[in-house]
Amino acid sequence: MDWGMKNRLSKIINPKDGHTVMLAVDHGYFMGPTTGLENIKTTTEPLIRYADTLMLTRGALRNYIDPSAKIPIVLRVSSGTSIVGKDLLHEGTAVSIEEAIRLNVAGVAYSILVGAPFERDTILGISKYINEAENFGIPVLAVTAVGKDMAKDERYLSLASRMAAELGAHIVKTYFCKDFEKVIETCPVPVVIAGGKKQPEEEALKMAYDALQAGAIGVDMGRNVFQSTDPVGMIRAVNAIVHRKFSPKEAYDLFKSNKN
Ligand code: 5RP
Repeated sequence: MDWGMKNRLSKIINPKDGHTVMLAVDHGYFMGPTTGLENIKTTTEPLIRYADTLMLTRGALRNYIDPSAKIPIVLRVSSGTSIVGKDLLHEGTAVSIEEAIRLNVAGVAYSILVGAPFERDTILGISKYINEAENFGIPVLAVTAVGKDMAKDERYLSLASRMAAELGAHIVKTYFCKDFEKVIETCPVPVVIAGGKKQPEEEALKMAYDALQAGAIGVDMGRNVFQSTDPVGMIRAVNAIVHRKFSPKEAYDLFKSNKN
């Protein structure tokens, strides 16, 4: 692994503890102005100081994020469908590696949909992207999206996560599940969990804690932060779990105290 790749990975994963809080605001590429992302600038400005990286699209980066911002970027480079289309998450390469380099990103994110009728497109798509990204020392985060009729269970998530790692992804993003440690044990690269649909803050914090306990290196959380009743309180609490070894109760107390 060359110096450049290591340097970029150190911007995504904090070298002090090997953990990361990724704030995901890339949802607009297939969900449009989803609740909480009506204006990504106003949403993210109070949050980014508590995140290690920001995951978003090139359009969001160009139009909402100040070029002087110090936050390392993980750029969403796959797309191809929308929530009103028929083949949700049937994605392919949408942003070139040259564009990612021009935008000075620390890494890129590419979704695969294992088990979908079009899985081959996404598997070959990420593989080809990794080939190019390796040429420039750009780490690839594989997003193991889950089709609507697939169970987010340990067997499926172990399959999708291991496949992503075998295809060459440097980091895997997947979902938390029962027996999550089995997903971790069989995935040879670092794993972060997506937050998934909005749930009560106390439950989301417990999930983040349990994922870290099982061996995840952190979170790539979006809706459970920017749709929280107190997004700043929530990302502070998530950061405390990921980087300061807070318990779920301590983190939830921090969340509640933030409002005051
Ligand atoms: C959407 C994504 C999101 O980045 C990922 O799901 C994290 O966001 P959330 O915590 O809201 O699930 O990849 O396709």
